[in-house]
Amino acid sequence: MAIRPILTAPDPRLKAVSKSVDSVDAATRRLIDDMVESMYEADGIGLAAVQVGVAQRIIVMDLDQKDGKQNPRAFINPLITWRSEEVARFEEGCLSVPEIWEEVERSANIKAEFLDREGHKQLLEADGLLATCLQHEMDHLEGVLFIDHLSKLKRSIALRKLQKAKRLKETG
Ligand code: NI
Repeated sequence: MAIRPILTAPDPRLKAVSKSVDSVDAATRRLIDDMVESMYEADGIGLAAVQVGVAQRIIVMDLDQKDGKQNPRAFINPLITWRSEEVARFEEGCLSVPEIWEEVERSANIKAEFLDREGHKQLLEADGLLATCLQHEMDHLEGVLFIDHLSKLKRSIALRKLQKAKRLKETG
């Protein structure tokens, strides 16, 4: 396994629309393992492959990291098959949008299908943090960041903050 650097906005590669995975093979599982390790290293709860520069429809997530226990899950070619009209608002952050947290409104409940790490089809009904996180990560597959859901003003403030932080890091 290897830790891969996570791209941060406004990197144009984060705008890529990710391609479906044709077959879940050893290379897919290696990528998933790298993504999981990179996510833990960065103290994240979810990561899409495009965030490490690989535009494939793969997401990893671990929402129950407690007491040092790890329960990573992989979602390959995820598809939302149903969403509730009811919405929920959560404060979101993103490893590609460091130091920024804002409330985003999303469907409160969703049904989804995806392939797991072994390439088996799985069905899922989700609410709460899982529903929010899955929608957030699936946005990445379309090149969409959570700040794209904010008002124009909030978004431009966030982008300015990001650019400033990037400049500081470069001149560091
Ligand atoms: Ni994100």
